[in-house]
Amino acid sequence: MSRSFARLFPGARHARRSSPGLGRLPKPADAARRLEHAGALDGTVRVLADAVQRRTGSGTQADALHGVWLGQPVHPALTGLPVGFWTSAAVLDFVPGSRRASQVLIALGLAGSVPTAAAGLADWSSLHREQQRVGVVHAAANASAMALFAGSLLARTAGRHTEGRALALGGLAALTASTYLGRHLAFPLGAGASHAESVSHLAPLGWHDLCRIYDLPDGRVAQRQLGYLSLVVVRQGSDVLALADRCAHLGGPLHQGTLTNAEDDPCVTCPWHGSVFRLSDGTVVHGPATARQPAFDTRIVEGGMVQVRPTRPGG
Ligand code: FES
Repeated sequence: MSRSFARLFPGARHARRSSPGLGRLPKPADAARRLEHAGALDGTVRVLADAVQRRTGSGTQADALHGVWLGQPVHPALTGLPVGFWTSAAVLDFVPGSRRASQVLIALGLAGSVPTAAAGLADWSSLHREQQRVGVVHAAANASAMALFAGSLLARTAGRHTEGRALALGGLAALTASTYLGRHLAFPLGAGASHAESVSHLAPLGWHDLCRIYDLPDGRVAQRQLGYLSLVVVRQGSDVLALADRCAHLGGPLHQGTLTNAEDDPCVTCPWHGSVFRLSDGTVVHGPATARQPAFDTRIVEGGMVQVRPTRPGG
């Protein structure tokens, strides 16, 4: 420490000795990590997840909420509505003559938060337990933000504008915390991302021997290795269909799943959360997965050898 610095800040030397150090200060990421292991949340998580799954089921309604029709989760896309409207309203509160505009934006944010919450809950009910613990706090922060903005709108319509502005600032704080936890779920914990995407980059180009067709059980799901990649393989007579084994939703082992049919196309159902993929091309038939499962072209060559190569879109 330089002399001039010590003269300006005489307590600095002492403060440095007694401080635990900047590296050990609590950080938002540490707090989020602790939530992943907060077993005290499990009771709430179980009850809420059961209730959501009973309400949404596993059919068309659930697929719509997950975003099977969109090819990606709907929840992150919808999140922009309440976040955008409410943030704009809180900013406009500092601009004279914007009372009416702030009220409209808060009302639009409340309207947008309903489908956003429904899609988020549907996704959350099919996550790993650690993700669900973080997710339930994320949902509680969102519910607080909704309540505070609803209170803000009521106060404003009753003419209590100062109270309305204060409640909006509280709502914005809850929204900021919730947004951080949502990003923690999406990025460090990978909720919503495809867990099979890397296969497209790891699979060697060109045709490769996999196994002999006679070694595959007919009409049953099997697992075979292509180097260090695991494939789920189904033989149907002289046809062989193959997908990446690691489920795009959260990495479940598809070879432990069941063989089903959708519109006469053979499909495999993931044993973890029930996503259904068409075996011919990896299309998602039912969620919670929204990303296509990497598929492999197959052919039978001399000696009954099954060869595979990664299916390229359009190729
Ligand atoms: S891991 Fe969730 S459906 Fe496959």
